[in-house]
Amino acid sequence: MEKKWWHSSVVYQIYPRSFQDSNGDGIGDIQGIIQRLSYLADLGIDAIWLSPVYQSPNDDNGYDISDYQAISPEFGTMDDMDELIQKANEYGIRIVMDLVVNHTSDEHSWFIESRKNKDNGYRDYYIWRDGQPNDMPPNELTSIFSGSAWELDKQTNQYYLHLYSKKQPDLNWENPKVRNEIWQMMNFWLDKGIGGFRMDVIDLIGKIPDELITGNGPMLHTYLQEMHQKTFGKLDVLTVGETWGVTTEDAKLYSAPERNELSMVFQFEHIGLDEQPGKPKWDTRPLDFIKLKQVFTKWQLALDGDGWNSLFWNNHDIPRIVSSWGNDSPQYRVVSAKMFATFLHFLKGTPYIYQGEEIGLTNTPISSIEEVNDIESINMYNERMQQGYNKEEIIHAINKKGRDNARRPIPWDESLNGGFSTETPWLALNPNYQDLNVKKDQQNEESIFNYYKKVIHLRKENELIVWGDYKELLPNDPQLFVYERSYQGETWLIIINFYEKPTIYKDDDRKVETIVISNYMDSSKKIDKLELRPFESVVYKLKKSH
Ligand code: NOJ
Repeated sequence: MEKKWWHSSVVYQIYPRSFQDSNGDGIGDIQGIIQRLSYLADLGIDAIWLSPVYQSPNDDNGYDISDYQAISPEFGTMDDMDELIQKANEYGIRIVMDLVVNHTSDEHSWFIESRKNKDNGYRDYYIWRDGQPNDMPPNELTSIFSGSAWELDKQTNQYYLHLYSKKQPDLNWENPKVRNEIWQMMNFWLDKGIGGFRMDVIDLIGKIPDELITGNGPMLHTYLQEMHQKTFGKLDVLTVGETWGVTTEDAKLYSAPERNELSMVFQFEHIGLDEQPGKPKWDTRPLDFIKLKQVFTKWQLALDGDGWNSLFWNNHDIPRIVSSWGNDSPQYRVVSAKMFATFLHFLKGTPYIYQGEEIGLTNTPISSIEEVNDIESINMYNERMQQGYNKEEIIHAINKKGRDNARRPIPWDESLNGGFSTETPWLALNPNYQDLNVKKDQQNEESIFNYYKKVIHLRKENELIVWGDYKELLPNDPQLFVYERSYQGETWLIIINFYEKPTIYKDDDRKVETIVISNYMDSSKKIDKLELRPFESVVYKLKKSH
């Protein structure tokens, strides 16, 4: 496989609204990111995936875009954006823009035109259908944000499709004019020297709503190949598609280099393992650890040589991993967060760190719907209240799975509003920010932050982490995740105790040359009968056996 910069990179996701406010309006902004570039350079990341900063009425916090080539005033100006790209590049950091082209905002000029009348030149930019008799929508497709995916527009008495909120009408990708507009817009950004695109729900663009096909439609890969050819194909950029229902076979179609589509996709199979199959994400069940290991191993092996994996625990849609599947108590938060870093960052693929993960930020429980900002949680709350669910149960589900958990402002220090803003933030900080903040972690050599720094640095220094073969040991062990990476005659053994309960690992034949990294200061070098403490995770370099 031809080696690209993103194979050996670590990407850091910024949710700009919550990163750093520079002008005292309680909302993070681009100048705030510029102020923190030296922090990110110190952490050692290679690229920033920047969640949307485009003009938007913020029905879905920027994922509803009303102008793809304008910056939202709350985030700054296009000059700020140019400055960010340039200053980040000076630090060797590339900016990967969020590309949200499954849908626009209903306030985008295309949609404003489209809804005016059936003959409008922009009518076919969106998906319009007649309803069924008795005021029924065209079919039973539902929105990911609750309710029907069809909205009746009184002006023309037709329904438009919105797989997300009513204010996020789906674009009609079958229309070549739509595709050309998108290629032009992408080239506008590529000309600015960005490092690539993260593509929002890109698996939906080939939908055939009349046949109830949404994900993975028949034209999907044809469109992506056209995109590749018309936009970034000749450039050395990272492209990562968000693809929720993807199988390993699909992922190869997206990411096998000779197919000329994307660098990699985000697959969510591991993320869904605490959800009940076929039910909304709110209906959870305990995590099945054996299954978790199976999923990781399946993806590691399936894409080997034939594509590329992305590796992540968190993003702006997913609650904080240390709270959901780890242990965020004062006693174990630090080792537990480091365990998750070890688990993921020695696998093959490109790791993504979501802002605050590098200091082990935790979820923020709420007790009433008034505290919630996220449209997905609010819509679900209203729907389930109407359906007669118990209010406490709904709040419990929001605390477990709600997106606000990941979206609270970053606590930079212990000062007012955690140094995020001088004014009241758009969403309250987690009240634990006096104890959990960036400054504290920077000052403590044994912090989660310094552990992430080391892990990132190790990837830079060791090709084994990037290119080594993967092999899982003890797949049926109920609490250990053990795997090897081997490259050019060298083998590393990664042993993870996923749980608080101590356990023992036995390895009779092999000897340790050195400990590469461990989340305890005094991990044992003897692996013939290794006693693992709560969440203990160690990376060993093994002695060569000859
Ligand atoms: C996926 C994004 O990550 C999420 O935040 C957003 O709500 C939907 N796509 C719709 O754009």
